[in-house]
Amino acid sequence: MKLFKVEAVFEEFDNLKGLPLDIQNLFKQADLVRKNAYAPYSKFLVGCSLLLDNGEVVSGSNQENASYPSGLCAERTAIYFAGATYPKANIVKMAIIAGSTKQITDTPIPPCGACRQTISEYEFKQEKPIEIYFKGEKGSVIYSKSLANLLPLSFNKNAL
Ligand code: THU
Repeated sequence: MKLFKVEAVFEEFDNLKGLPLDIQNLFKQADLVRKNAYAPYSKFLVGCSLLLDNGEVVSGSNQENASYPSGLCAERTAIYFAGATYPKANIVKMAIIAGSTKQITDTPIPPCGACRQTISEYEFKQEKPIEIYFKGEKGSVIYSKSLANLLPLSFNKNAL
């Protein structure tokens, strides 16, 4: 038996003011599109905006369905929209903002496992890290320098 450790390192900022303007702007876009979430079942609204290396910003919000598994998270809505619209562009930065309409969400909300797997696919495809920032409606912001940092020991194309 051999023991090995995988280390994940995150940075936490008290609020958006400590972050660069492009990130503040990305969160502004994500918060706008969050208002377009269709979440009648969970009442949990998520917005996600991506900054691409061609300068474009692409956004998505979660879209639910009466048949629950048919719904889609904000991150995957945004990332598939980016892939479909700008297939040659790389994703440089991602901002995620989430909160419930039932109470104030004041802790950072990280992407779910399925979204991590999807973002991971694009990080491998572009061979460049995707910087990820996430927050609740209020409170601090967490930064991860790449998706790999959020998904250690990922299943990826190297296995196939
Ligand atoms: N949701 C997202 O949009 N992104 C995530 O990473 C976590 C969950 C959505 C899916 C569903 O519409 C609602 O939040 C509650 O799970």
